[in-house]
Formats: sequence, C-alpha cells, structure tokens
Amino acid sequence: MDKVRLGIIGIGGMGSSHADQILGGKVPRCELTAICDIDPSKFAKYPNIKAFESSEELIRSGLVDAVLIATPHYFHTTIGIDALQNGIHTLTEKPISVHKADAERLIAAHTDPKIKFAAMFNQRTDPAYIKMHDIIQKGELGKIQRTNWIITNWFRPESYYRSGGWRATWAGEGGGVLVNQCPHNLDLFQWLGGMPSTVYAIGGLGKYHDIEVEDDVSALFEYENGAVGAFITTTGEAPGTNRLEIAGTRGKLVVDTSASVRLRFVRNEQDSAEYNKTSKNRFGTPEVWNIEIPVHGGGEQHIGIKKNFVAAILDGAPLIAPAEEGIHSVELANAMQYSLMTGKKVELPLDSAAYEAHLKGLIANSTYKKVTDENASTSLAGSFGTF
Ligand SMILES: NC(=O)c1ccc[n+]([C@@H]2O[C@H](COP(=O)([O-])OP(=O)(O)OC[C@H]3O[C@@H](n4cnc5c(N)ncnc54)[C@H](O)[C@@H]3O)[C@@H](O)[C@H]2O)c1
Repeated sequence: MDKVRLGIIGIGGMGSSHADQILGGKVPRCELTAICDIDPSKFAKYPNIKAFESSEELIRSGLVDAVLIATPHYFHTTIGIDALQNGIHTLTEKPISVHKADAERLIAAHTDPKIKFAAMFNQRTDPAYIKMHDIIQKGELGKIQRTNWIITNWFRPESYYRSGGWRATWAGEGGGVLVNQCPHNLDLFQWLGGMPSTVYAIGGLGKYHDIEVEDDVSALFEYENGAVGAFITTTGEAPGTNRLEIAGTRGKLVVDTSASVRLRFVRNEQDSAEYNKTSKNRFGTPEVWNIEIPVHGGGEQHIGIKKNFVAAILDGAPLIAPAEEGIHSVELANAMQYSLMTGKKVELPLDSAAYEAHLKGLIANSTYKKVTDENASTSLAGSFGTF
C-alpha cells in the first residue's frame, strides 16, 4: 500500500475543512475516496467523490482504508466502534467521546494494533507545547508544584450556538465549553502535567447564553504528588486570556498568547525546595535566568495530525495523539461538569457508570427548547486562532 484511501464522515464545518485540505494536496499519500453525511445537501461541493448517507455503508464499501469522523460528538463513539470492528484505521475528531463510559467502549473496540486509531488533537503539533513537554519530560522543571491555565479566549456569541441543533444540548452534544472548545486544552493539560486525583469546580450552566450546558467553569485540582492546579474557561468573556503556567521546583514555564515572548522559562539557578531549606536570607528567592524559548509558527495543526495518521498507517510512524489518550480529557471534562452540578469535590478515577447515569438523567429531564438558525454559516474561519 503506498497511499491511504480515506473516507470523511460528517461533511459539516470541520469535515469539509479536512476534505478541502486533502483535495488541495496538503496531505501527501492520502486520497479522499468517499464522504458521508446524513444531510445530502453537503455533497454538492464534492461532485466527484463517492457519497454515502450512512456511515455503515461507507465503512463497508471497500472504498476506504481509513475514516476521519467529524460528526457531532456522540457519533464518534458509535461510528468509531463500527469502523474499528471492521478493520478500518480511524481518526476521530475531539472529544473521542462525550463521556468516560463511551470512551471506554470505544477504546475496547480497538483490539488490533495493526489498525491505527488516532484523535484530532491538532494543538499537540504546536512547537510551544512540544517544547514544554520536552522540558518537563527531561526533568528540567524539577518537581511540578502548580499547573494553571486561564483559557477564556473561546468567546462564542449566541449565533454560534444557534448554528446547529445539536450544539450546547445534553442530548446532542453532552456538554458545553468543556466538551467542545476545551478538549484541546484539557488534552494538553494532562499531557504536560499529568492527571489530578481530585477536581472541584464552580461556574454555570447557560450563564452567558441561552443554552442548557456549561459555559463558565473555574476548577481546582489536587495531584497525587501534592501539586495543585487551576483551569479556568468560558465562552462568555471577551477579551479573553490564554495563559498556561506550569511551576516546578526548578522554575516556571509560561505560554501566553498575548505576551511578546510566546514561551518563557524562568529557571531557578537553585531548586526552590533546596533553597527553602538552606537559605539564610529570610526574604530571598532563588536567582533566576529568564530564558526566551524561540517558537516558530503554530505547527502544522490539522494537516500535521492527518499527515502523521497517514505515516502511521503506511510507515508505522508513532502517533502524535493516540486516541486512547483521549479518555483523559473526557474524564477531566466529566469530572468538572459533575463537580459543578453537584457542588462536590470529585475523586479520580471518575466512576464512569455514575457519570453516564447522571448525564442520562439530564437528557431525560431536559425542558430546554433549542432555537436554531439553519441559515447560519458553518465556516470555521476564525475558530482556530486561539492556540
Ligand atoms: N479539531 C478542531 O479544531 C475542531 C474544530 C471544530 C470542530 N471540531 C469537531 O468536529 C466535529 C464536528 O463539528 P462541526 O463544527 O464540523 O459540526 P457541524 O454541525 O458543522 O458538522 C457536523 C456534520 O455531521 C453531520 N452528521 C450528523 N450526524 C451524522 C451521522 N450520524 N453520520 C454522518 N454525518 C452526520 C451533520 O449533518 C453535519 O454536516 C465535532 O466533534 C467538533 O468537536 C474539531
């Protein structure tokens, strides 16, 4: 095999952006051989590509080696399971599933290691986060003490929520800012800082929009090693902030999109824990070196993940974002949603069955009436500018 025959399932805003990148030759050794959408009006833009109204038919058509799933979230699980069980390489959009129990079912369907299973965590291609990851993995930050992310530049007006009937409903989307905008940040947060052991969140459901799901979240984390963290997000605040700080005993890494230096390492000459024990200077702090880490561009993003998926299938390259790792961001989102709605601190690992039952209760008891604007644009222009 010298090229991958790909089918895209869900040709809405994101699916058509993926299709256009492939048809535009941005992903070598990848041919778009089929598309699928339950809304056949989406096919008009691609008259030369075989189109299906059912994902089952596309998966069994013999026309594809791999699929990219870009449907509303709940279908990532069902369509992903179907594709994997039929020996089709699968790249799913984020989040891999809406809730942890679904993520467990999806991951359990990936039984053949020859079949590649990846997630569209395109922000993992951003050199700023790759460098942060390297520095942490090499131990240069020392023992992590604090992880903080203020990620409030996901502002969305009402018209965004009205652009799709599935959006911002428990039944259609399974959550709000935590399951739609933040999977990228939550994935990076756990990739860089690991998983916490407890989560406590406050915020609001439909606080700034006429929606039934969360659009404002401030969460606190505790980690097994004693570190603490905070994750603050909303789609209702403008201007927003995107500032990630990870502090360790050897210094502090800061990514700030509004700063002139995108990635900074303020490095302690002496480990702060050691200084704490040995310094005679009552108000002193360790000497620091201010290191401006050069970061060029934002990485290849969606194209990079698709290229890597193709390279994994054809050359055995390691995946940048194995889908199995996507369960962590789902679990973090669910834990925050659960805490926010119950007012209680949530212990991890999250009880996936309990959260699923809670979500089903929200769906069953929903009285929310969704207003949609079917003429709204599905263009994603402007939606990727937040990394
Ligand atoms: N990685 C990113 O940067 C990024 C950005 C935006 C959206 N996304 C993800 O892409 C996915 C789609 O989001 P969107 O904004 O394109 O939504 P959208 O509503 O514009 O598109 C979804 C499409 O899926 C189709 N669809 C629904 N159910 C289907 C089914 N069972 N089988 C086949 N097609 C079906 C719809 O008709 C629609 O055309 C979401 O999971 C979202 O989180 C990712």
